[in-house]
Amino acid sequence: MIPPKPAPRPDRVTLWRYLRLFRADILSAQPARLYRAWMAEFRTPFFRSYLCNDPALVDLVLKGRPMDFPKSDRIREGLKPLLGDSVFITNGETWARQRRIIDPAFEGGRVRESFAEMWAAGQAAVTRIGMRTGQEAIEIEEEMSHVAADVIFRALFSIPIEDATASAVFSAFRAHQRAAPVVNLGALLPLPAWVPRFHRRETRATAARIRALIAGLTERRAAEIAAGTAPDDLATKIMTTPDAETGARFSTAEMVDQVAIFFLAGHETSASALGWSIFLLSLFPGWQERVAEEAAGALGAGPDFAALGRLKLARAVFREAMRLYPPVPMFVRETRAAETFRGRVLAPGAQVVISPWHLHRHERLWDNPDGFDPARWETENGRACQRQAYIPFSAGPRVCPGAGFAMAEGPLILALLVRAFRFQPADGPPVVPVAQLTVRSRDGIRLRITPRDATSPSVSDMKQT
Ligand code: HEM
Repeated sequence: MIPPKPAPRPDRVTLWRYLRLFRADILSAQPARLYRAWMAEFRTPFFRSYLCNDPALVDLVLKGRPMDFPKSDRIREGLKPLLGDSVFITNGETWARQRRIIDPAFEGGRVRESFAEMWAAGQAAVTRIGMRTGQEAIEIEEEMSHVAADVIFRALFSIPIEDATASAVFSAFRAHQRAAPVVNLGALLPLPAWVPRFHRRETRATAARIRALIAGLTERRAAEIAAGTAPDDLATKIMTTPDAETGARFSTAEMVDQVAIFFLAGHETSASALGWSIFLLSLFPGWQERVAEEAAGALGAGPDFAALGRLKLARAVFREAMRLYPPVPMFVRETRAAETFRGRVLAPGAQVVISPWHLHRHERLWDNPDGFDPARWETENGRACQRQAYIPFSAGPRVCPGAGFAMAEGPLILALLVRAFRFQPADGPPVVPVAQLTVRSRDGIRLRITPRDATSPSVSDMKQT
């Protein structure tokens, strides 16, 4: 069985149809040949863009000469109401300075320090879902957004999602997404200003509300740091780390921008990957049983960082889910000067599209590219492709700083959930992947969820959380 893949568009379509498709969903707007091509050029009257699937080109853009391929200003323009000058959208020296302060917070040992928070959020999700298992079907993407938001609030600010401000931020984000259905990747293209995209009044209002809430949290934390009463979490670490080159710290205002991106990048993405992981396990019950068995053996009643190393199958499943449904399916860079790619000349200002979505399913690189096979990571082809053609977290200096965090959080929460419950597909609309802010199912993912064993440690734990 092949897990859902969006139907490609016909090879040739008019520009208008293309733009319409693009605005509706970037994945189904692409022709099937992109799964075989090393590079493809798109010409429109407004811009030229080049999708790069050749691993050597991807390497060049992300790792070889990344400073020659900055993020485009349009991306910044589109995301500014929500993200201000956060590290996700800045370039050059501003970006480098921000990374010098942020990176130490995510280095090796820090993931270990956030582990108990990840565990607590995972167990809280087991409790929440446990209370609803009698119901017909549960929409799992929503549940995964909830748990991932919980993880990020606990790790950043030491507060659970039930905290009044945390839950207000979470609901404001949900409202923001509803108000901004065009916050999809299509909106990042350099279309002329008259094509309606971001900055509708509602979008601006929800962005302002989120930022006001985050500013409250950040100001409170700045005061606690000054008073010496701040908890030792990611927010404190980032706010107290001086730039190794200049000694300067983030101002409270700068920190608001960074918190906005940590929250957005840190919960939407993990939620997407977890939702697809569970959905895939519901389609492949044999794998689900193996993950459940592994989890029952590896996890105890409380947080034990060493258990993470024993969750090999959960990690392989999570990795395979991000191969088939990379949460960030495409990202865009811009050429600063003329470049020659595979014999074609790219003008300055051309859009360079890196597409994990296509690279991860490339027919000339992967064995069984559209199939679900978590065992592939142990094969020669899987290992080679993991090195050359697998970039769910991007690569090079702009690689996701939360990658290590996500690779701990994802397999752990997956294992906690599968230890407690059995997941089966439920009736309802078919699951169709579309690119919203991250790759989601167009109409959600509805699953039937049943407790595995009323006496298992996870369920008795549940009552205590
Ligand atoms: C499964 C989970 C995640 C995935 C798949 C993911 C993926 C990515 C990708 C592909 C990028 C690069 C985007 C681009 O270049 O345009 C990125 C950047 C970023 N991610 Fe993640 N991410 C995840 C989780 C997290 C977490 C947990 C955090 C923080 C707590 C985080 C924070 C960031 C930040 C701050 C950036 C911007 C880095 C820069 O531009 O220098 N991400 N992420």
